[in-house]
Amino acid sequence: MLSKKQLTQSIEYLQSQGFEAPEVGIVLGTGLGKLVDSIENQKVAHYNQIPSFPLATVEFHSGKLIYGDLGGKKVVVMQGRFHLYEGYDFIDITYPVRVMHGLGIKNLLVSNAAGAVNLDMKKGDLMLIDDHINLQGGSPLAFKGVSEFGERFTDMSAPYDKEMNDKLKSLATSQNISLKEGVYASVVGPQLETRAEYRMLKILGADAVGMSTVPEIIVANHLNLPVSAISVLTDECDPDNLEPVDIADIIAIAGTAEPKMVALFKGLIELI
Ligand code: HPA
Repeated sequence: MLSKKQLTQSIEYLQSQGFEAPEVGIVLGTGLGKLVDSIENQKVAHYNQIPSFPLATVEFHSGKLIYGDLGGKKVVVMQGRFHLYEGYDFIDITYPVRVMHGLGIKNLLVSNAAGAVNLDMKKGDLMLIDDHINLQGGSPLAFKGVSEFGERFTDMSAPYDKEMNDKLKSLATSQNISLKEGVYASVVGPQLETRAEYRMLKILGADAVGMSTVPEIIVANHLNLPVSAISVLTDECDPDNLEPVDIADIIAIAGTAEPKMVALFKGLIELI
């Protein structure tokens, strides 16, 4: 259950630690932590220090919220997100978005590592998410009392903010960064997809597949928080020539493509 009291406890703790009126929130995906190096005047709160925050698992003991200056704005960055496949529920994984909103963010930027289902897209490419398909079998808004937090029947006709996405596209052009655009499908994981599942995803209209992001986007829309998201494509999901994937490879590819994502996010923060 989500309670306003819990949220207030988390928010007030962070404010007491100097997380004052951030303007932009950022969620960093797997292997995409380097943006944090560009943040100045950092204040850090580890997830396990924040009252009422979901308890970080052993793998995610390093999860933290970082506050500071980036691109001339106060930002709050989530380094290490919560996933369904770690056993968290939809309310847990989206809790930090509600906390960042409670702190005052006006825009949200989300990143993830994803597999390319559309084979015109290649390993190492960036894909701006234009729309999504929720294949995680649930919703972060399906709980008793959701109406106290916003409209239950949240409109999803344009879940990604057009203005922010247009700015990202023009930044990509001016910085000579190739930015594809497409549909992201979210699955639970943690197992990767079978060949038959990749064929299905393609038929469904997905360009990329990953294990995150969609719940956070749904909650951002619930909160009327403009959001953009970029996938870093870490592998090519060709059902007719499928090679075994190695999660270490995925993380390594995410790291090589990361500077392009950092440049786009920084540029956007300067513009919004
Ligand atoms: N599926 C396939 N490939 C991927 C994924 C995924 O969920 N995430 C990163 N590469």
